[in-house]
This record gives sequence, C-alpha cells and structure tokens, in this order.
Amino acid sequence: MTKCIGILTSGGDCAGLNATIRAVALRAHHGYGWKTVGISHGTHGLLHRPVAAEPLDPSRLDAVLARQGGTFLGTTNRGNPFAFPMADGSKKDRSAEMVEGLRELHLDGLIGVGGDGSLEILRRLLGGTHLPFIGIPKTIDNDVFNTERAIGYSTAIAIATEALDRLQPTGASHDRVMVLEVMGRDAGHIAIAAGIAGGADIALIPEVEWRLDRVAARVDQLRRTGRTSALVVVAEAAGDSHRGGPKGGERLGDASIGGWLAHRLTEMTGSEARATVLGHVQRGAQPTAEDRLLAAAFGVRAVDLLAAGKADRMVGWWNRTVIDVPLEKVVGRSRTVDPQGALIRTARALGICLGDEG
Ligand code: F6P
Repeated sequence: MTKCIGILTSGGDCAGLNATIRAVALRAHHGYGWKTVGISHGTHGLLHRPVAAEPLDPSRLDAVLARQGGTFLGTTNRGNPFAFPMADGSKKDRSAEMVEGLRELHLDGLIGVGGDGSLEILRRLLGGTHLPFIGIPKTIDNDVFNTERAIGYSTAIAIATEALDRLQPTGASHDRVMVLEVMGRDAGHIAIAAGIAGGADIALIPEVEWRLDRVAARVDQLRRTGRTSALVVVAEAAGDSHRGGPKGGERLGDASIGGWLAHRLTEMTGSEARATVLGHVQRGAQPTAEDRLLAAAFGVRAVDLLAAGKADRMVGWWNRTVIDVPLEKVVGRSRTVDPQGALIRTARALGICLGDEG
C-alpha cells in the first residue's frame, strides 16, 4: 500500500526551506513510491477544516524550487499549540484540534522543519499520537543543539558578510565607524563568522562579555594608527553580555543595540558612527550552495529514517557527515558560540576586538 507522509515548516523562515521540502518529496517518491503532503503555515494549517494541505506532486518540484528563498508552504512562529494566541489576546490549548487535523490527513509519518523551539513543540504535539515524527533543523541563528549546521545559516553569513563588504568602502570614504547589527536571538554565530569573513575590526556577541569602554578604546587605537574608519559587527543579543551596565535612560538590548552602540561610540570617541540593522534581509535570499546541499542531505535522511521505522529523531550535520540523534537530546538546549572555540580563537588571532580585552 502506498504510504503518505506530511511535511511542514515551522518558526521563522530562512533560505533553503524550499530545497528541503523538495528533497523530502523527491526522496519519498523516487525512493519508496510514497506520496507527500505539504501542510500550510506550520501547525496553523492543522486548525483548518479541511486541513490546509496540498499534495506535493514531483512534477511541481523542479530545481527552480531549490533556488528560491522562503517556504512555499508558509510558516509561523506564533502557533504554539499549547498556548495558541487568540484574537482577544488570550492563550488557548488547541493541541487536540491539531492532532485531529493530523488524523484527517491519514499520514504514516511527519517531517517537521524547524528551529529548537519548533522542534520541541512539534515533538510534544506528536507525543500524543502514534505518528512517527522526524525533525530537520533550520535557523539562521545556527543554535540547534547536536548539529554543527542548521539550514539557513550559511546564507545568512553570506549576506552579513556582503553587508560588511558594502559598509567598508562607504565608511572609509566618510571616515566613519560603521556598525552592523546582525540577527541571532540568543547566539552570536552569525556575528562572529561574518565578522571574520567580512574583515570586521570589532565583533560583539552574547557569549563573550564585553565592555563599551574597551570597544571605544579600540576605535581610538585604530585612529592613532592612521585608520579613520572602523567596521563593527554586533549580534542583536550582544546586550546580554555587556558588562558595565546600562545607565540613565540607556536601555541596552532595546529594539536596536546597533543604534545604541553607534550613538555611544560617537559620544565617546568623537568619530562619527552609523548603524545598519540588517534584520530580515538575512533570511530572505536565494540559498547558498551549502544550504541547498544541507537541505538535500537532511531531506533524504529524514525520509530514510521514516522508511526504516525510526521516529522521534532529528537529522543533523556533524564532522562532515549527516547524522541523526534522538530529539530528546536536542530539545530544551541550545548550541551557542564556544568562547574557547576555533572561531573565537581565529578572530582573536586576526586582531578582531571582542570587547573583553584591555
Ligand atoms: O530565530 C530566527 C530569527 O531570525 C532570529 O535571528 C530573530 O531574533 C528572530 O528570528 C526574528 O523573529 P521575527 O521574524 O518574528 O521578527
């Protein structure tokens, strides 16, 4: 009997999701003769009656899809089934409705593409069913535990690096300090990687405790050595590791730490500083080749796991190969930048100021 599996994308979008959906549906079709159904807007689709879902016929899945950003299925990061946000502002447990929606689809397995939060929620939701569930990690933040890479991260670094490449000449032309704020809700993976690749002078991340006076001192020092401009990359969460504490009306970690930093550096150094907040630009691009490869490898492995009768696992990338691990060893944890790790050591070796050394 032909089997049918479901796939949904959940949480913030990123580049490489369409390539992942495609890989899953193609592997299911070519490898096992299975059908694949795409569920619309993550768990939201399961609340519709009939369920908002569509068959993913291989004829629709040509390579053009692998090149496109976003997710053609749609996604949500506001759909916690256990505390679903209602129109009146209240929260309601709608997990039973979603499980009922899954039953209506008569699936033999479900693949969820999400970050740590989404995978945890989906695991809990599926725990109340007998439907085998496999998770695929995606997030530009790259902070999912037990995988060195999540889909979307490579593209985000490429975009942040390109932004630094573009800020450098304009900063140099105007003798300015250019501050680039990049995403990373709780982790500095994008900032440190783009900082190295994009030739930043200063990189501030939540994993390394930094002080504003040390950042300002580096700007002054650069000026003394003849440099009239500087390039600073700051993770959106870097306010968490700022030592010295905000004073007066300063609210570090507010909407834009980049803007705050530029303002303070102008005051403290006399150099004109300008901030750019890169924001969702980091999520919406054509995926890099690396993200497409990861999407393909993860999609194939996820289907193979279902075919092998496995469940409650996440695929991952470790030491140059695809792995899979129990979801219980992933959820509730996150993989932040190792302050003693290779990237931090590399940054220091290149003379990049992390704001923690005098
Ligand atoms: O988790 C991915 C991410 O892009 C974070 O880097 C960022 O903090 C957050 O999502 C932004 O979420 P939203 O799209 O809801 O603004």
